[in-house]
Amino acid sequence: MTAISVSRLSKRFGTTQALSDVDLSIEAGEMVCLIGASGSGKSTLIRHIAGLELGDGARSQVAIFDAPTQAGGRMLPGARATRRDVSILFQQFNLVSRLSVMTNVLIGKLGRIPRWRGTLGVFNKSEKDEAKAALARVGIAKVVRQRASTLSGGQQQRAAIARTLVQRSRILIADEPIASLDPASARRVMDILSDINRTDGITVLVSLHQVEYARRYFPRTIAMREGRVVFDGPSTALTNAFLSELYGAASEELVLPDTPAAHAEPRPAPVPHKRLGAFEAA
Ligand SMILES: Nc1ncnc2c1ncn2[C@@H]1O[C@H](COP(=O)(O)OP(=O)(O)OP(=O)(O)O)[C@@H](O)[C@H]1O
Ligand SMILES: [Mg+2]
Repeated sequence: MTAISVSRLSKRFGTTQALSDVDLSIEAGEMVCLIGASGSGKSTLIRHIAGLELGDGARSQVAIFDAPTQAGGRMLPGARATRRDVSILFQQFNLVSRLSVMTNVLIGKLGRIPRWRGTLGVFNKSEKDEAKAALARVGIAKVVRQRASTLSGGQQQRAAIARTLVQRSRILIADEPIASLDPASARRVMDILSDINRTDGITVLVSLHQVEYARRYFPRTIAMREGRVVFDGPSTALTNAFLSELYGAASEELVLPDTPAAHAEPRPAPVPHKRLGAFEAA
């Protein structure tokens, strides 16, 4: 089953063509990385998949589990229900800092309980137990009563992951979830995302700049440049040479790995199974 399907998706902001004819398809249960220089369109693409933004053009379409959520620049009936299947993590965690960690996690339930209960903050025992279990799973059970503002960055991101767990979405999208974290916290967050993918079968799509994480955690990488998908294939095919070419003048943004694969160059670079457009000739 296809979890995420994007076709002919374009988006213009004023004079900026943020997305140009993006086509991609992610199967249920995949763990996919999205890379590209700053401004290449990663967040814009994520916002369209999550139903937070509408594409341009009569043919643009996004579907979640085969149900179209938007087409031709219009939100479709049923998109709300379908969007519940997608939860998002952001670089800045987006917790409500004055609320307890427990309440922040329970916020993940709001789409699935009657509105009056959410408004009054009335959660039942099984919902609270589920929130506690989610916090235990991400390794921060002991901070359940603390205000979110008192947590470290890594703990805040793990609380945000716990919130997505109670949301019980079948798709988890994370927009640079480790960009603000130290390496140890970043690894922890990536290990948790990987475990959620493998154990729960949740489809995971993550944007990041750290290529070593792309290689280590993701079988598949999609690379964007100037609003277009320019690579879609196995992460093992991402050579440092290709990445420098991908990032071009923005190469200093790249966090290139110092891995055996990197040392192995300049052996002939493996040819990505799908290379498109500008990179064909290079
Ligand atoms: N709401 C908006 N209004 C105007 N321009 C926008 C808007 N959102 C994005 N853009 C522009 O669209 C392009 C793509 O932006 P986007 O945020 O998707 O890039 P990104 O790949 O996520 O970059 P980064 O790695 O810095 O997060 C950029 O040129 C950006 O300035
Ligand atoms: Mg972004």
